[in-house]
Amino acid sequence: MRLLTISTVLIGLVALAAAKSGDSYRPIVFYHGMGDSAHSKGMIELKQSIKDIAPEVFIHSVSLAESELDDQRAGFFGNVNNQLEIVCRQLKDIKELQRGFNAVGFSQGGQFLRAYVQRCNDPPIHNLVTVGSQHGGVTDIPGCVNADASCKLMRSIARTGVYSGYVRDHIIQAQYYKVLWKDPKNLQTYLERNIFLPDINNEYDIKNATYVKHLMTLNALVMFMFSDDITVKPKETAWFGFQDEDGDPIDLYDQDLYKEDWLGLKKMDHEGRLIFDILEGEHMQFSLEDFTDKITLPFLLEMGDNDKRHRRPLGSELKDQEEEPAFQMDQEQLIL
Ligand SMILES: *[C@@H]1O[C@H](CO)[C@@H](O)[C@H](O)[C@H]1NC(C)=O
Repeated sequence: MRLLTISTVLIGLVALAAAKSGDSYRPIVFYHGMGDSAHSKGMIELKQSIKDIAPEVFIHSVSLAESELDDQRAGFFGNVNNQLEIVCRQLKDIKELQRGFNAVGFSQGGQFLRAYVQRCNDPPIHNLVTVGSQHGGVTDIPGCVNADASCKLMRSIARTGVYSGYVRDHIIQAQYYKVLWKDPKNLQTYLERNIFLPDINNEYDIKNATYVKHLMTLNALVMFMFSDDITVKPKETAWFGFQDEDGDPIDLYDQDLYKEDWLGLKKMDHEGRLIFDILEGEHMQFSLEDFTDKITLPFLLEMGDNDKRHRRPLGSELKDQEEEPAFQMDQEQLIL
């Protein structure tokens, strides 16, 4: 009896070790952020940090163009709906991914991967981690981190009016721009003219049931917000926060998106599959240690226990902040 117990434990341990060696790791997909590209120095470094722990794990980095420069440009210029069709085909064609994968989306790559889940999800994502993403939209076109010429060009074009005909279809950042305050007409304008965000957030009167069904197949939706993010406004967009008609921050829990469960987030939350966490620092300025401890080990490699989830207490955080809006613009006249 005693022996049996020990051997059962041993078999269990061996099975656990086997499950975590070689190609039995779930593959991983990266989706880079604005201004970055699939095989940049930063992406390679992150990939290597995972390989140091699990050398055989398969990692694919989403790319929209052959050359790095064109891939980087595609993060500023294009129509994200068309880009996502390419991403869906690209991931479907990779045989290593066929049985599903874990994914991490950096900055705008996070909401794009969420859109991948809602629209395609073939092959399916198991854990989706988003890092400083703009799930709730942005109230300003994100700033350029360095003297990036494409970024500057993007901003100068966006200045001609985020939802004007050309811009709304060709500038990626305009496709998740959302300002409701200042003018009561802004909500209507946003719903009518933004070609991406209102759709993936199921904000139209007719809700897309496929989006809910797909999103709810995720094991976990893990959302990291940067503690000192000044690149993305408001930073709480990483947790689906945005600013309401009065310019006040509005928490996911106070939105109809959650209350009426337009995307299935409420159900996922009640099942403990919606995870809110914080990375210290400015936008995308995280340490490799944090990446390993908070993202790679628990969610990408699924090692160790996931119980140390930092679930945010209901309605905290956002309400305590009384930030002056840092932008003075409306949707047709963007002053950058
Ligand atoms: C819902 O989304 C799916 C996947 O993108 C799409 O094929 C379908 O046409 C959408 N349905 C509606 C009612 O918009």
